[in-house]
Amino acid sequence: MSAVRKAVVPAAGLGTRFLPATKATPKEMLPVVDKPAIQYVVEEAVSAGIDDVLFITGRNKRALEDHFDRNLELETVLRSKGDEERLALASESADLARIHYVRQGDPLGLGHAVLMAENHVGPEPFAVLLGDDLIDPRDPILERMVQVRDEHGGSVICLMEVPRAAISLYGCAAVSATTQADVLDVTDLVEKPDAADAPSTFAIIGRYVLDPAVFGILRETRPGRGGEIQLTDALRVLATTPPSAGGGVRGVVFRGRRYDTGDRLSYLQAVIRLAVERDDLGPELRTWLREFVPTLTP
Ligand code: G1P
Repeated sequence: MSAVRKAVVPAAGLGTRFLPATKATPKEMLPVVDKPAIQYVVEEAVSAGIDDVLFITGRNKRALEDHFDRNLELETVLRSKGDEERLALASESADLARIHYVRQGDPLGLGHAVLMAENHVGPEPFAVLLGDDLIDPRDPILERMVQVRDEHGGSVICLMEVPRAAISLYGCAAVSATTQADVLDVTDLVEKPDAADAPSTFAIIGRYVLDPAVFGILRETRPGRGGEIQLTDALRVLATTPPSAGGGVRGVVFRGRRYDTGDRLSYLQAVIRLAVERDDLGPELRTWLREFVPTLTP
């Protein structure tokens, strides 16, 4: 049994990159093919053995709470029609995990959002999954991160190599090799560095397994980049904290498919890449794409 049983999912962002769609609908509820982006994230946590999910929400997130609840009216209609297939689709999200909510209040940054989870999480290691990062379900990584935490203690982050020009969009880790090919020791971290100053091209992807020692550090963390309390800054302190005090940060290298569903282009790519593989939609979509693509002008 893993020690990591709980996940924290920050979901208080305004989603301004997707206006006007996100004016009254939380960005987490935008469908990727036919499932809200956030449901993929919860399913990913559940696949890694997690059964308790805490959402950090804000105003305007009612639809998210409704999605992970039962819709008895809809279920009654589908049951009376004998539509078992859609009945399963309508109820599956409510049965995935024990779901809890806490509101962030002031949006003071990702570190602040994670700190809101302290009471719920208590003295246990826990996962953090950022809703904008969609990890292709065919390339799971969280389970491996949990395994690394169970083996070594400390905290574990997910690292992906990106072109140097793109590193300023991410938290960046200075690393050294370990005896395991997919695991790196994290020696330092910096949030969204300029390309020229970045200590590596390893970007933090929005998956973390954190030691509860992070809470004490977050309480002391002053606003950093963008005037926000940054999780990366707290991890930086953890990287040089002794293991006896819950310190130590390792990075697991991710080489699979990942989409930023908060970015419109990457969102469209996610929809297409997941849809072409589906048994129900894939064959017709692939046929159409083959006809459509040659008609495109550069
Ligand atoms: C956050 C983190 C950043 C990380 C990124 C991954 O930034 O602060 O370190 O690289 O998520 O998606 P955001 O994209 O929320 O600004």
